Amino acid sequence: MTVVDDIKSRLDIVEVISGYATLQRSGNSYKANCPFHQERTPSFYVNPDRQSWHCFGGCATGGDVFTFIMKAENLEFAEALQRLAQQAGVTLPTRERRTELDVAYRINEAARDYFQQYLASSMGADTRTYLERRGIARESVAKFQLGLSPRDGQGLFNHLRRQEFTPEQLVQAGAVHQNQNGGYRDAFRGRLMIPILNSQGELGGFGSRALDDSMPKYLNTARTPVFDKGRLLYGLYLAKESARRQGIVIVEGYMDAIMAHQHGFDNVVASMGTALTEHQVAEVRRLTNSVTMALDADAAGQQATLRSLESSWQVFQSRVVGTARGTTLLQRQDNPELKVVTLPEGKDPDEFIRQFPERWPELVRQGVPLFEYLLPALSAQVDAATPQGKARVVELLFPFIAAVEEPIQQDHYFRMLAGHLSIGEDTLKASVSRFAAQAKVARPAPGPGAASRPAATAGANSPAFAASDREPIEDRCLALLLQYPALLSEVPEISDLSPDYFRRPENREIYAQLTQVWAEAPSAPVSDGALVETLKESIPEALSEHLISLAEKKLPPSEMRHRAGELRDVAARLEERYLKELKRVEQARFAGEPAELPAESEQEALALNRRLKANQQARNQATQNAFGGR
Ligand code: UTP
Ligand code: MN
Repeated sequence: MTVVDDIKSRLDIVEVISGYATLQRSGNSYKANCPFHQERTPSFYVNPDRQSWHCFGGCATGGDVFTFIMKAENLEFAEALQRLAQQAGVTLPTRERRTELDVAYRINEAARDYFQQYLASSMGADTRTYLERRGIARESVAKFQLGLSPRDGQGLFNHLRRQEFTPEQLVQAGAVHQNQNGGYRDAFRGRLMIPILNSQGELGGFGSRALDDSMPKYLNTARTPVFDKGRLLYGLYLAKESARRQGIVIVEGYMDAIMAHQHGFDNVVASMGTALTEHQVAEVRRLTNSVTMALDADAAGQQATLRSLESSWQVFQSRVVGTARGTTLLQRQDNPELKVVTLPEGKDPDEFIRQFPERWPELVRQGVPLFEYLLPALSAQVDAATPQGKARVVELLFPFIAAVEEPIQQDHYFRMLAGHLSIGEDTLKASVSRFAAQAKVARPAPGPGAASRPAATAGANSPAFAASDREPIEDRCLALLLQYPALLSEVPEISDLSPDYFRRPENREIYAQLTQVWAEAPSAPVSDGALVETLKESIPEALSEHLISLAEKKLPPSEMRHRAGELRDVAARLEERYLKELKRVEQARFAGEPAELPAESEQEALALNRRLKANQQARNQATQNAFGGR
């Protein structure tokens, strides 16, 4: 999640805008007299589900919380970013901070290289035998970048000191420890080293396994500015693409994940032995709505494991997740599926997959929805035949039901629970109202938005905004422009593309800055790298990570002469999307309140139709040009 997404997920647009306009409820939205122009009948709408606003009157424009603040306070994007970050309680990265983090990543990478070489050397013979005995293939050793730390506790320190790093930096990165008399010692000694990458592929820290009976069996990098075990999932970087397509499977251990990938099950990640945290759930939730947790047989019976699922479940119910003032913001849900599967007695996924690789997909398919799994599991822990026992089961399971936003689904669970305990639904609902008061189900902070997100948004179908952190067409367009600056002279009309066509505020800002560069040096030949460097200077630091990911984004292979056609195509698609969105909201408005239609709206609608038609024609033309020549 970029900083901008983080900020957006923590703020409620209704709450922000209500500081500028008096909002009145209108169906699923709010309306007000537009704060940007004089009017008597409200034509300004705020949609809490989409976290967007729109003025249908004189302004005929709209956007998200960023564009609103920019317009309302007359701010540049960078200033709006400062303001909203503060409001949301998000610390913006600075250039100095970024350098500090980069150093930690570079230290980890140097350490990884060193451990890998050490494992490959004659000193690593026993460890290589160990890995072989565990059935870990050479390919997996390479893919997971496994290594070995020397026993003497000095090897890494001396190696890294010969590079440009200071002892303080090494300590800060968690690679070495300083002892009481000031000396330095490697943090890991004589262990199998397991690099842990974040979802962007940056090396945050290490897990490590003892190679004999010494304790602890596994030891991880201590918390550092770039490593927080509770925010990472082992293997996620490798599993990301596959998880998007086929859902994700979460196992407990490093070895489980490695063995799964070795057998081609590349949608598997490991939670590293602890209960899933909100951050981890939120991270997988952005990739997929289908998650299966594979629990070791021994873990499944444990009360602690079962209870820990509660917070995962609550977070899991929401699509876009963030935390504000200690509560989790629940937004729209899209039929998430959180399933649980238990491994056969005495086996963990590593052993199971090694023995029966062909049965793994079947096992995962047998996962049962969390609620159905918990109902008998929790009932088994109390005497569910007694009234007290029943009350206890209700108490334990109520939070799970309450977190479900979709009313039909919620009702389904209600009936399951009533049936399982053989009590009437009315009795159940009555007893539940007792817990409802104390339910910890998080809701957005009070304000007009508070009432708007639960049931009202359930089932609402607005795919365009559902994945706010992914805008593939926008990304593609910017990637083309950044990677092939020469396209500007081939497709000069691209400069007509309005920043408004970009939905994601960070894309909009990057594009706006790009047009600045074009305007200032129209004919200067820019090399690819130079353009990105120039932009990096002119955008806020918080966007530079995103800028780089665009500049490095892999584009489908194509010949240069087709790139121009691709660019025309994505540009036309962005315009079309923008126009259609305008039309859609306009239609929604016409349908709602025909009587209030100002006369000029009809003219606008007609003009809009003409623009859409022209866009369509241009697109057809572009497609013909792009594909006709092949
Ligand atoms: P397990 O004890 O189930 O280990 O811990 P395992 O994965 O089966 O390991 P092998 O097969 O004995 O080598 C599961 C996970 O819990 C974390 C690690 O991430 C481990 O993979 N863990 C476990 C720790 O972080 N520290 C520990 O001391 C133990
Ligand atoms: Mn194991």
